[in-house]
Amino acid sequence: MMKSKPSSTELATKMNKNSPQEWPEPIVRVQSLSKICKDSIPERYIKPLSDRPSIITSSDDDANNLPIIDLGGLYGGDPDTRASTLRQISKACHDWGFFQVVNHGVSHDLMDLARETWRQFFHLPMEVKQKYSNSPKTYEGYGSRLGVEKGANLDWSDYYYLHYLPLSMKDCNKWPHVAPSCREVFDEYGKELVKLCGKLIKVMSINLGLEEEYLENAFGGEDIGACLRVCFYPKCPQPELTLGLSSHSDPGGITLLLSDEHVYGLQVRKSNNWITVKPAPHAFIVNIGDQIQVLSNAIYKSVEHRVIVNSDKERVSLAFFYNPKSDIPIEPAKELVKPNRPALYTAMTFDQYRLFIRLRGPCGKSQVESLKSPR
Ligand code: OGA
Ligand code: NI
Repeated sequence: MMKSKPSSTELATKMNKNSPQEWPEPIVRVQSLSKICKDSIPERYIKPLSDRPSIITSSDDDANNLPIIDLGGLYGGDPDTRASTLRQISKACHDWGFFQVVNHGVSHDLMDLARETWRQFFHLPMEVKQKYSNSPKTYEGYGSRLGVEKGANLDWSDYYYLHYLPLSMKDCNKWPHVAPSCREVFDEYGKELVKLCGKLIKVMSINLGLEEEYLENAFGGEDIGACLRVCFYPKCPQPELTLGLSSHSDPGGITLLLSDEHVYGLQVRKSNNWITVKPAPHAFIVNIGDQIQVLSNAIYKSVEHRVIVNSDKERVSLAFFYNPKSDIPIEPAKELVKPNRPALYTAMTFDQYRLFIRLRGPCGKSQVESLKSPR
């Protein structure tokens, strides 16, 4: 597409003014559809042929599974083990943009409890869940679509979205009340994951040759953002025709995904193949988001991923997003801009970027590509 187009900043500013307050059409819960549609799915969920999952492109080969990295070595006190762990993370960031971490310091009980408590939420009666219905204004709450384009093709999933940070955005009253201590569980889960992301972002800074605190400071230091999207993928009578979540890269900084341990679904693009991830027990799946791609001047890339569904098992996953403070311009680190590697992106705040994404819903990597500086 060579025709001159408005810059992403112009687009985002324009969109901000027209930011929709409501969904363009009545919301249909996929979980309800899953109960009604026993043999076939509504046309709106059928993907174009080129986007449908294909068994041939997913691989069962172990060598093709995401690297699994033991983080114990980072803090064990042995410099060699630490150096080797840093190297493994560096390689995984370059080769995959995705890896799994174990021995990460987050309690396994807390992980199980958080996931199973969220599962309970999705099994509450519909009228209870509806009380938490979200709108495209903030996305917070119970939702069933991303993007506000009328008549858009939809994904086979429902979700719950909530904010942890900044504290000014955190509103526990918007979190579901499933069981007496559930909000404390979700709160504790968020605190632990912010800590883990803090460790990972330091490692990424070091690996990029930056000061240990560089990326964290660029993200706003104490004022970073953090939110959670709990994804619920109901059983689907025709999984070969649809996707639970269309291909996208994550817009933020780092994502920590706690997948359903027993039901596979996440697929990561590697060259032209879709690799089905096999989660290791109590691992977090880490991936690089668009903001790290921008800050690292594309030394690290956010990688496309998507979710497939199946006909006999529902799937629950918790995607935790660690993001820059929403109003600071994010641009390539000066240290990573060289005469032979000029800055690939123009500055944009995460607020502007997120708005841009939310209006369109998932669309592969076209969003971060559109940030590229004109040249
Ligand atoms: C996401 C995501 C994957 C999954 O929410 O951005 O990629 O397995 N989720 O649910
Ligand atoms: Ni994602």
